[in-house]
Amino acid sequence: MQIFPKFAGMDEKQVAGKKTNEELAEELYARGWSVSDHYISEDFRKQLLKEQQELLYHGQFRHAGIGNGESFAIKPEIRSDKVLWLDENQLTPLQQKYWNSLDQLRTAINQRCFLGLRSFESHFAMYPPGSFYLRHLDRFQSVSYRIVSVILYLNDSWDESKGGALRLYFTGQNGLEQYQDIFPIGGRLVVFLSGEMLHEVLPTKSTRISITGWFKDEF
Ligand code: OGA
Ligand code: MN
Repeated sequence: MQIFPKFAGMDEKQVAGKKTNEELAEELYARGWSVSDHYISEDFRKQLLKEQQELLYHGQFRHAGIGNGESFAIKPEIRSDKVLWLDENQLTPLQQKYWNSLDQLRTAINQRCFLGLRSFESHFAMYPPGSFYLRHLDRFQSVSYRIVSVILYLNDSWDESKGGALRLYFTGQNGLEQYQDIFPIGGRLVVFLSGEMLHEVLPTKSTRISITGWFKDEF
């Protein structure tokens, strides 16, 4: 059995904590996923959440689908969130600020992981109470350009009783499948390899808000 000393015996606190872009990139390189708490300031998180709520109130969110192009389909038995895609050419000042900070993360990941990430696409996501997203990969045939998934949670408060964890599956040191649950705590950012990391959103009891995006290897 091979032990990776750096990741042996990791507990919740070591999984999370505040990290720099370079630390996120290093973990992504070493094991395919990483989490940082307090990725954005509380002020910025509240502003983004307010903007999300205004857009939701004005009916801008749509039922999320799976697949794209001709294979796009709305399947609430697979995923039941609602999304609003951000338009790169019409970003609000707040969205632009987030976009800019993720561009620095993109650069850090490219420097460490040589993934040739060139662009970013992103949507707000809202999971109403009772909703979920079954186990899946973010990169499938029709979106093979998605290389790294990036999720920022905007929720005001969260605890385990609300459910709604992101469950990331990976192969443990014993060769068996393991998982790590990551709760959608406001200000927390998760990155993982879109084509490698199977994951799901467990049913949530509370409205669950995030900005989900993908770094792509094409424009
Ligand atoms: C997705 C997804 C996870 C999350 O939108 O593809 O898996 O924690 N989201 O919101
Ligand atoms: Mn996903």
